[in-house]
Amino acid sequence: MFITFEGQEGAGKSTQIKLLHDYFLAQGVNVILTREPGGTVIAEKIRRMLKDTENTSISKKTEALLYIAARAQLADEVILPHLANGGVVLSDRFSDSTIAYQGFGNGLDIDDLVSMSNFAGDSLVPNITFYLQIDVQEGLARKLTQGAPDRIEQRELSYHLKVQKGYEHLLRMYPDRIKAIDGAQPQDKIHEIIIKYIKDITA
Ligand code: TMP
Repeated sequence: MFITFEGQEGAGKSTQIKLLHDYFLAQGVNVILTREPGGTVIAEKIRRMLKDTENTSISKKTEALLYIAARAQLADEVILPHLANGGVVLSDRFSDSTIAYQGFGNGLDIDDLVSMSNFAGDSLVPNITFYLQIDVQEGLARKLTQGAPDRIEQRELSYHLKVQKGYEHLLRMYPDRIKAIDGAQPQDKIHEIIIKYIKDITA
């Protein structure tokens, strides 16, 4: 099973994905937790490049290709082999982020992004995606309490609002796969909701 977490800056994905990882470990499931961009030595190097606030000259196309390259490396090295072994993979972000951030946020062609993403991930689609919803400004403010903003977080509010529109579009397109959860709720409540969905799809 391939499970992804999506959401805007400061939505609380990382906390929830760790809680779900702990839940699976406690059940004795062969589970791994990874993230995008990142999750391998090469992809973590690409992540640093993408987040570096000095890299203001990265073009929109280059940025998209770097996210896609990181995805290809993670898919080939980690995700696909683990799934082939019958394991569960949890990923903090996947292709939906590219559609929301590079497609809706940066205005790149959605069909191009979908086909490049499919190329990178061997057309892998998550079994279920948890989309944690948060007020955009509240999320950005939350992030600021955790340290200096990275290159993407530094973008203006209008960019982040376009990303939100992208996620809402994806939610309408894939209502069976993407489960929206109010990220403003207490963490244990959100975890409970996620476990309920997991129990439903594994029943
Ligand atoms: P995060 O893992 O801390 O959320 O940081 C990843 C950042 O990269 C976040 O700002 C979202 C952005 N991103 C994209 O713009 N496109 C993508 O395809 C992915 C995976 C992430």
